[in-house]
Amino acid sequence: MEIPDISSIELHSRPKIFEFEGISMIDFFTKNWEKVKNFQARPDDILIATYPKAGTTWVSYILDLLYFGKDDPERQSTQPIYMRVPFLESCFPGLPSGTELADNLPTSPRLIKTHLPVQLVPKSFWEQNSKVVYVARNAKDNVVSYFHFDRMNHGQPEPGDWDTFLKAFLEGKRVFGPWFDHVSGWWEKKNTYPNLHYMFYEDMAKDINGEVERLCAFLKLSRSDEEKEKIINGVQFDAMKQNKMTNYSTIPTMDFKISPFMRKGKVGDWKNHFTVAQNEQFDEDYKQKMKNPTLNFQTEI
Ligand code: A3P
Repeated sequence: MEIPDISSIELHSRPKIFEFEGISMIDFFTKNWEKVKNFQARPDDILIATYPKAGTTWVSYILDLLYFGKDDPERQSTQPIYMRVPFLESCFPGLPSGTELADNLPTSPRLIKTHLPVQLVPKSFWEQNSKVVYVARNAKDNVVSYFHFDRMNHGQPEPGDWDTFLKAFLEGKRVFGPWFDHVSGWWEKKNTYPNLHYMFYEDMAKDINGEVERLCAFLKLSRSDEEKEKIINGVQFDAMKQNKMTNYSTIPTMDFKISPFMRKGKVGDWKNHFTVAQNEQFDEDYKQKMKNPTLNFQTEI
């Protein structure tokens, strides 16, 4: 499919949040719902699932390079990552919808991104036993990243100030609903759906080589050491920040003067944002809401 010219897309006002199937949503992610719900997955599809700002672009690019990096240099230099890896539930003005993009992907496998909580994923993915890669990020860094994203992206609802945003996040009132249910729901899915590989942003930050090895093992891919080294160099934060195909600089609704998409890429940046009181309140809430003792996050490395 041709890459549309989106340079002139303007949004006149920010979208409003409403409840959809029990989840806080905006209409860019619900207005194509019938097609999303009835989306026809294939057995060789790879679904990349995350809560927003958990490292979706990072893992998408790793998968894209693992599958298509060597044989298709043109793809790497001309197609932005959001065209290569369609965002399934998205339906933005002036852009083909996520389902349309996915239906037209010529590749095998198709790499498809979603932020949906597990209970809203189209059932054909489960029926087809498609592979799923889920990435989770610790809640504190996740909420900081989400705050800056909502500040800079006019396609997202108004964030308010940091304190307001943090409270709304804890109440599960930002887009795609409660972080707690998202990470736990997908974690528990692993028990009944073995074709799911659950990863952590913090592990990628600590040991990208090991995480790429584990991904290859899950996907049953063998790549030479040289190829893997090339991939690992290409997916470093600075390389992705400079790369126009992965840094989202081509999206006109994002204002990089407010905050770049590739912002810091660090574990522990929350310490520069949380006050002592906010941190205490957060830890208190976290204990109440995170019930599964087997799911543990690192907030520093
Ligand atoms: P920060 O805002 O903390 O910098 P998503 O792709 O899910 O929207 O996530 C975006 C977050 O992942 C941003 O976090 C971004 O900087 C970070 N990120 C993207 N690529 C990265 C990389 N190669 N290494 C480390 N962090 C990366």
